[in-house]
This record gives sequence, structure tokens and C-alpha cells, in this order.
Amino acid sequence: MKKVLLVYDSYSGNTEKVARAVREGLASGSVEVDTTLKNIDDTTKEDLLEANVILFGAPTRMANLPPKMKEFLNGIGASAMKGKIGTSFGSCGGTCESIPMITEKLKSLEMNVIEPGLKIQGRPGSVDLKRCRDFGKTIVDKL
Ligand SMILES: Cc1cc2nc3c(=O)[nH]c(=O)nc-3n(C[C@H](O)[C@H](O)[C@H](O)COP(=O)(O)O)c2cc1C
Repeated sequence: MKKVLLVYDSYSGNTEKVARAVREGLASGSVEVDTTLKNIDDTTKEDLLEANVILFGAPTRMANLPPKMKEFLNGIGASAMKGKIGTSFGSCGGTCESIPMITEKLKSLEMNVIEPGLKIQGRPGSVDLKRCRDFGKTIVDKL
């Protein structure tokens, strides 16, 4: 069974809410997957190595990635990630620069990147949560 890891960073809980809804969607895809949801503070290199599919989630701050997520991504060696499937998600208040930034980083690690990532504005409401679940389902349906 494929292992799917969701790693998120979140200041006020919006991206965490997105992550939880995406995880629900992962469970409704066409194949069964083993999912793990982790705050970035609790995520280790081993978690990344074990996963076949990794979803990175972060809000945007000052048109940039939050420093913790940036540092985390920059600390990953390409050889560890090559060939894994990756994508991005996050909540933001404007243009969600974090999504293309994560995407480009995953490409530089030679991951197979699913584009576009998921952008949610602010605190996800019921329509947004459905988009999150659909996003999760779509990823599993591609496996
Ligand atoms: C200090 C600060 C800077 C922000 N800068 C941006 C930004 O440059 N672009 C953007 O799209 N949203 C920006 N936002 C909005 C956040 O990304 C948005 O509130 C998001 O929902 C927060 O998600 P979180 O609860 O997961 O931290 C900013 C928010 C704060 C507090």
C-alpha cells in the first residue's frame, strides 16, 4: 500500500484545516493508501524517506514561505526525494506565493510534481473544504 505523508506549517490553523480535509479526501480515492498527517515541527527525514507521496502545506507570509518550511525544504537532499510524487497546498490571503515556491522546490528535488497545488483563501469554509477533499481524492486517483 502506498504511503502518503502530509506535512504542514500553519500559524493560525487555516492550513492545518486544509491539510485535515485533504487527508479525508485521500481516504476516498480509488485505491487504499496509508496516510500520515504531521506538523512540520514533528516531521523527520525518515518520515520523508518512508513516504511514496508527499504533500507539503504552508501559508504565505510576506510573499514568501514561512521560514520553518523554507528551511525544511532546503534541508532535503535531492537523492532522497527523486521519483517520489509531490504536491503543494496552503491557505493564504492574496496570491499564495508559497504554492509555486513549494512546487519549484519539489521539481528541483526531481520529484514527480502534481500541478497545480491547492490554494485556499483564508479560513476554509464548506465550499473550500469540499475542494480540499476533492484535491486529496484526485491525487489518490492518479496513483
Ligand atoms: C504577517 C502576515 C503576512 C502575510 N502575507 C501574505 C502574503 O504575502 N500573501 C498572501 O497570499 N497571504 C499573506 N498572508 C495571509 C496568510 O497567508 C493567511 O492569513 C493564511 O490563511 C494563514 O494561514 P495559517 O492559519 O495556516 O497560518 C499574510 C498573513 C500575515 C499574518
